[in-house]
Amino acid sequence: MKIAILTSGGDAPGLNAVIRAIVFKAISYGHQVIGFKYGWDGLINMNYTEIRKEDVDEIHSLGGTIIGTSRTNPLSSEELKQKCIDNFHQSGAEVLVTIGGDDTLNVAYEFYKMGIPVVGIPKTIDNDLSCTDYTFGFDTAINIATECIDRLRTTAKSHNRVMIVEMMGREAGWITLKSGLAGGANFILIPEVPFDINEICDMLQKRRENGKPFSIVAVAEGAKPHDYDVIVESHERDGFGHIKLGGIGKFLAHEIQKRTGFETRVTVLGHLQRGGSPSAFDRVLATAFGVRAMDLIESRDFGKMVALQGTKIVSVSLLDVVAQLKTVSFDDYELAKSFFG
Ligand code: F6P
Repeated sequence: MKIAILTSGGDAPGLNAVIRAIVFKAISYGHQVIGFKYGWDGLINMNYTEIRKEDVDEIHSLGGTIIGTSRTNPLSSEELKQKCIDNFHQSGAEVLVTIGGDDTLNVAYEFYKMGIPVVGIPKTIDNDLSCTDYTFGFDTAINIATECIDRLRTTAKSHNRVMIVEMMGREAGWITLKSGLAGGANFILIPEVPFDINEICDMLQKRRENGKPFSIVAVAEGAKPHDYDVIVESHERDGFGHIKLGGIGKFLAHEIQKRTGFETRVTVLGHLQRGGSPSAFDRVLATAFGVRAMDLIESRDFGKMVALQGTKIVSVSLLDVVAQLKTVSFDDYELAKSFFG
């Protein structure tokens, strides 16, 4: 069998580990693997390459993706959609493994409904995909962000400053929540819960009165104060219609300094959260996802995504995955809030 794979959307640590697992397993079953390059763009332009065992040997620890990725949306016109279907059949592939987040898996589900045998693998540092406890890439991202908070704490303390650290997370604040908790941030602000700037300033003031003249505020790029819209870096939209977020950290630093007089600085973690070598957890998760995806292919169980539920790797319907995003629950946020101040 010829198996096609592609990686699409923002990259995440663990992509190469999952590619390696698929190729190793596929070859052991006697199959051939091709990779469409730069996500859906490769399918649109018939830009693909065979991936052999020697191409993936020892790539499990490498960040990025050896076949590239993009935010190209193949559903932007009926013509393009049909072109992808035709190209897929012309490539001789019998199954398409799509490795990505919500946008990618939405497209995968659409193509599945149009007759392409599809298997999905959940990837995103944002961890916002439904039906899986973890997506690979998330663990690495929260470890990087936690280390950054630890580093910011020592300099915050030396200067008695407020340090704002802005993290990725458009609609879901998982990275900010988990790394904020792990790093002991004094305030954690996420897209799911609009916040009151005056309330934050009052709490910063109280901390100072209680002998803590420095503070760390972890804020997700999609977090917004009451009565404000989400803060954007530019109004340009990507292929899936998403506006480029960014700037909440700077905005917040300005408001805090203005309202409290406390010296405030901002650090934007940006793509540092996505780059570099995957954590051990992400390597193992990505490998297990790749192997399980091959099992689904062997049993011709398509229209599914592999997922982690508890300690088990299971398969779930793509329809359920794309139905809604997994955002931070009230209970999860309450836990973080009990450490505020
Ligand atoms: O990978 C998902 C994500 O990290 C979002 O949280 C963020 O808004 C987006 O990617 C930024 O991606 P890029 O700048 O690469 O388009």
